[in-house]
Amino acid sequence: MNDDRELVSPDAAGDERAIEAALRPKRLDEFIGQARVREQLSLVLQSALARGRPPDHILMSGSPGLGKTTLAMIIAAELGVPLRVTSGPALERAGDLAAILSTLSEGEVLFIDEIHRTSRPAQEMLYLAMEDFRVDIVVGKGPGATAIPLDIAPFTLVGATTRAGLLPAPLRDRFGFVAHMDFYDVAELEQVLHRSARLLSVNLPPDGAHEIARRSRGTPRIANRLLRRVRDYAEVRADGVVSREVAAAALDLYEVDSEGLDRLDRAVLHALLHRFGGGPVGLSTLAVAVGEEPETVEVVAEPFLVRQGLLARTPRGRVATAAAWLHMGLTPPPDAVGASPAVPDGEPVPGTDTAAAGDPEAAAG
Ligand SMILES: Nc1ncnc2c1ncn2[C@@H]1O[C@H](COP(=O)(O)OP(=O)(O)OP(=O)(O)O)[C@@H](O)[C@H]1O
Ligand SMILES: [Mg+2]
Repeated sequence: MNDDRELVSPDAAGDERAIEAALRPKRLDEFIGQARVREQLSLVLQSALARGRPPDHILMSGSPGLGKTTLAMIIAAELGVPLRVTSGPALERAGDLAAILSTLSEGEVLFIDEIHRTSRPAQEMLYLAMEDFRVDIVVGKGPGATAIPLDIAPFTLVGATTRAGLLPAPLRDRFGFVAHMDFYDVAELEQVLHRSARLLSVNLPPDGAHEIARRSRGTPRIANRLLRRVRDYAEVRADGVVSREVAAAALDLYEVDSEGLDRLDRAVLHALLHRFGGGPVGLSTLAVAVGEEPETVEVVAEPFLVRQGLLARTPRGRVATAAAWLHMGLTPPPDAVGASPAVPDGEPVPGTDTAAAGDPEAAAG
């Protein structure tokens, strides 16, 4: 992957984690957006505190970079308890999990990131642990093996997953509270940016924040990353102030366009419109036209294009929507997906309705 691809990737690069830690909100009232999740969670936590008991197990699902790890840390902080962090891939053997569970202190929060990647045996151990605060330690092998039950301290499991659909139902059902994290709107991302700018001592006027927020793909991680790149530009090429003009010039330089599309996204749309008349065209043909592997196009570019309502996946192939034609500065043909019926000159054109294609759930999985 090249550099500009990483600029709009929702995943965190290795050296990005330290910077992210510094920008993480520490308490629930500092956490921006996700109003419903925040309110629900606040109730769960407050009632647990009032009863003096650990709250129900909590599952958070949502795309990368939306704040799942951040919320897990906030949950422990709000409860005033320690946080133990592990991840699905680290729990390959049930014994790995048993070692953690048996050393939890009362009320502790156990955070399992990427919980959908936990191995089957470890998942089965989790069922019992979550429900009865007990694990069965198997001693010996074959017919002589015995299971020794071991009580563990009541704890709260906080699971995070980008693929809730991959969780087996028995595991999903054992969470008392499921928080679905949505993409952020532009106003919320502006707040994230202003907060980060304060922490990083970046001079960010409102119009600059708006420009960056629009290009951040609904994702705080990307917003923070674009802010750092734009700050570099502002310091070297301008007076350090991240105005709208500076932000736009910097992001154009990094090939992040006005809707957050990067070079690959635009190459896909360009090929689809110019070479294939807007489609339908098969994935592999489209991939050859942009000189990429089909998987790269499918996994890296398409989900965002679908979510933005720019591209539709149909049984006959990939199709550009009317919005895609417009975004690339072209006039959509009358039969384009989502094209509005012709209207007389001078009348406002109703917004091309791509709500269904823009649904993040439709793009996931
Ligand atoms: N609501 C928010 N308010 C302010 N900053 C946020 C918010 N959500 C996320 N961030 C910022 O975005 C960055 C990424 O968030 P986080 O690591 O929690 O995402 P994640 O959902 O765990 O991602 P992944 O799926 O890759 O693990 C953090 O550095 C954090 O500062
Ligand atoms: Mg995370």
